Amino acid sequence: MSIVAFVNQKGGCAKSTTAVHFSYWLFHKQRNVLLVDADAQRSSSIWLESLEVPIPCQVVQSASVLLTELPKLAEQHDAVIVDGPAGLSDATKAIVQCADLAVIPCQPSGVDLRSAADAIRLIQQAQVIRGGAPMAAVFLSRAVKGTRLKDEAIGHLASLGVPILKTVIHQRQAVADTFGQAATAWELLGKAAVEAADEFEQLFREIMALLPKE
Ligand SMILES: Nc1ncnc2c1ncn2[C@@H]1O[C@H](COP(=O)(O)OP(=O)(O)OP(=O)(O)O)[C@@H](O)[C@H]1O
Ligand SMILES: [Mg+2]
Repeated sequence: MSIVAFVNQKGGCAKSTTAVHFSYWLFHKQRNVLLVDADAQRSSSIWLESLEVPIPCQVVQSASVLLTELPKLAEQHDAVIVDGPAGLSDATKAIVQCADLAVIPCQPSGVDLRSAADAIRLIQQAQVIRGGAPMAAVFLSRAVKGTRLKDEAIGHLASLGVPILKTVIHQRQAVADTFGQAATAWELLGKAAVEAADEFEQLFREIMALLPKE
């Protein structure tokens, strides 16, 4: 049904981490979910394969294959989650052409805000061509608790004309550890992992609220 893509040219902003956690969350909600890994690094598909639960995944990197396959895959699944590559490549443009919702993770720093602005511009160009689609939303990722940057970033993002999700995903070692532990935040022990899992849950509820009801 819906294609939700995590896009941002900026490397390291948590596209793959969020795509994997969202796929895992949907899988546990009994959704027929597929993750499409569009990044040459293949980190999200390697990560999903390492998990104990069998979450389907396909690696598709070419722009033309993404353009033809994503609509077909959407017909066959409740949700197709796309992990976008770093850079505003043809693949990213193809993903934005097909997505129902483009979600931009953005770290609260000056350089990252500039990258997010470029991704937002790309999405807004697609919205003109596609008569409003894809919907778009930004969220703050990897925010360090107790810094003022977060408030400044929210102010800057608000001026770019894209909805900002209320949930902020904070920087936590527990999240950084998930890939190496072949796990997600839900499976790790400790207070920080529980807090991270709660934030992801809240973020994904917000994302789901943007999508049409099934
Ligand atoms: N909330 C968080 N707290 C701590 N570390 C995080 C958090 N989110 C992501 N990371 C770490 O930041 C790094 C980059 O994350 P990730 O690979 O998800 O970004 P990306 O946007 O997919 O990067 P790329 O564009 O290179 O594919 C990883 O080492 C990941 O473990
Ligand atoms: Mg990635």
